[in-house]
Amino acid sequence: MNLRVVEKEDLPLFAEWWNNLEVAGEYVPLRQDRRTEIEKRCDDPNSENKFFIMEKKDGSKIGFVGHFPTAEKLLEIGFVLIPSERGKGYCTEAAKIMVDYLFLSRDVVRIQAQADTRNITSQKVLESSDFKREGVVRNKLGSRGEELLNPLPEAQLSKFLKEAKKVLVPELNYTSQFANLLRARLGIDAISLAKTEGLPFTPDEILRKIEEVA
Ligand SMILES: CC(C)(COP(=O)(O)OP(=O)(O)OC[C@H]1O[C@@H](n2cnc3c(N)ncnc32)[C@H](O)[C@@H]1OP(=O)(O)O)[C@@H](O)C(=O)NCCC(=O)NCCS
Repeated sequence: MNLRVVEKEDLPLFAEWWNNLEVAGEYVPLRQDRRTEIEKRCDDPNSENKFFIMEKKDGSKIGFVGHFPTAEKLLEIGFVLIPSERGKGYCTEAAKIMVDYLFLSRDVVRIQAQADTRNITSQKVLESSDFKREGVVRNKLGSRGEELLNPLPEAQLSKFLKEAKKVLVPELNYTSQFANLLRARLGIDAISLAKTEGLPFTPDEILRKIEEVA
């Protein structure tokens, strides 16, 4: 197993993995980013987020590991392997290499990782790579829409949303269903940005609305 920085030639595959729900698995947050944004993130030499391709000895690319800072002298790592290569020990190998590399090359005092409590495989990878279990992060909003909608985690949402000056809800339906649900269940006067053409929102559309309501 080799780990190497994502190069230009890897970008199309990396971008495809990044947005692919099967590759992300059940517990990694859903991401649907533009290819140009993903490429920019990987290309930026000043970015603190770095991504590495996991490559088998025969040169085939099987996944990626990333690291990003979450506090001073602290890095967090995350990893994703394509489904056909799971369960063969590759990720444990990659995580160990990554941790050794980071402690040797970076001025860090701590490397951490987070896994969903149901993501047993990921927890096993971490424990086999000498991570120590420290605790459970509670009331963390789920990374998947269905967990937020049903059952609606009213206490967490309410606490979080009441701290916001304004709440904007971009949603792909005609009648602003989620904004209405927030209003009915939590009394939050959410501003709706509804779209019905069957296409996802572009960042510009959301930005324009934020500027309009700010
Ligand atoms: C998490 C993931 C990277 C693990 O990669 P992997 O290469 O399959 O992991 P390994 O083969 O090193 O297996 C790790 C351990 O989990 C065990 N395992 C594998 N599949 C399992 C399953 N379905 N249930 C329970 N244990 C399982 C393995 O036996 C191994 O245990 P061991 O160390 O006691 O032998 C991979 O499943 C994945 O990409 N998942 C989707 C993305 C994701 O969830 N990333 C983690 C975000 S925190």
